[in-house]
Amino acid sequence: MQQNHLIEKYAEFLPITADTSRKSLGEGLTPLVQSNRLGSELGLKSLYFKLETLNPTGSFKDRGMFLAVAKAVESGSEAVICASTGNTSASASAYAALHGIKSFVVVPSGKIALGKLAQATVHGATIIQIQGSFDDALQIVRDITERFPVTLVNSVNPHRIDGQKTAAFEIVDELGYSPDILCIPVGNAGNIVAYWKGFTEYQSTGKASNLPRMWGFQAAGAAPIVLGHSVSNPETIATAIRIGNPASWTAAVNARDQSNGQIESVTDDEILGAYHRLAREEGVFCEPASAASVAGLIKQSQQGANLSQLTAVCVITGHGLKDPDTALSIEADRVEVAADALLVEEAMNLH
Ligand code: F0G
Repeated sequence: MQQNHLIEKYAEFLPITADTSRKSLGEGLTPLVQSNRLGSELGLKSLYFKLETLNPTGSFKDRGMFLAVAKAVESGSEAVICASTGNTSASASAYAALHGIKSFVVVPSGKIALGKLAQATVHGATIIQIQGSFDDALQIVRDITERFPVTLVNSVNPHRIDGQKTAAFEIVDELGYSPDILCIPVGNAGNIVAYWKGFTEYQSTGKASNLPRMWGFQAAGAAPIVLGHSVSNPETIATAIRIGNPASWTAAVNARDQSNGQIESVTDDEILGAYHRLAREEGVFCEPASAASVAGLIKQSQQGANLSQLTAVCVITGHGLKDPDTALSIEADRVEVAADALLVEEAMNLH
């Protein structure tokens, strides 16, 4: 029988029955790697990156999607639908393909990173690009799923949150405790809620003695929770979190407050600065939205937060390869010469 490692490891915390499919693409069980330079520069005791980039479709969405699609199939559904800034559509279409059911993805036209559109395309989703925002797309798919037998697999589906909370379990299992601070990008706000659920469930069952402070970061041009009101025209280079009216707004604010944490904003320049540093100083290639967690931690330190003696984990939510346009737009040491050893030597600046 096919093995699903997340179900095997965390069955007691998941809504699994004998009829739930165990089909898996190898999601979860991602590495927690120690920072090479940044952690000590910020004065932290330890800084770790949770590399959710190493999930099968390159983002954290797979942890929740394996379960959401398995439960959809268990209930007899033959199609799933989502609104997406890209990663949810990549994941939903992959797991729909695995289960042999249909997927529909509704995305803001022209605002999806190239790699994510490629993923949904190759997995055979019906891709509907709307002339509107993610928030418009979410409204539309909620409306459609009330009228048609198609399962909604956005994070308003509780199975998504239950699957995603396993990342918090893995962090505690590996460290032996919860970190002092968990830094995470916030878009539709499902993931910050999922992590908080995971940490609190682990604490209440005695598997963790402490809880982290949740530090969420939105992009400054798409920061409704920080501003306290929805944003009708969200704009940011971090297209994954280009969201003006998050579905899990209230639950995210509860996670922030119950954990004595914060949700703050970071500018596109700060995001790109962290994106660059992660790639050049840590060897970690993530997409811009993921760098928001690190940009936020750097900003807090610059604004005087005392991080000494603390352990922080930054969640690196999606792989850099998904967004080649952003990667190639940064200044690079790149030249083209004729196929001649002398010219190559010259270009290497060895003389
Ligand atoms: N990081 C990445 C790479 C994402 O794709 C998303 C969300 C987030 C962070 C924020 O997570 O929404 O749970 O607060 N992407 C969704 C999508 C909206 O459609 O792929 P969140």
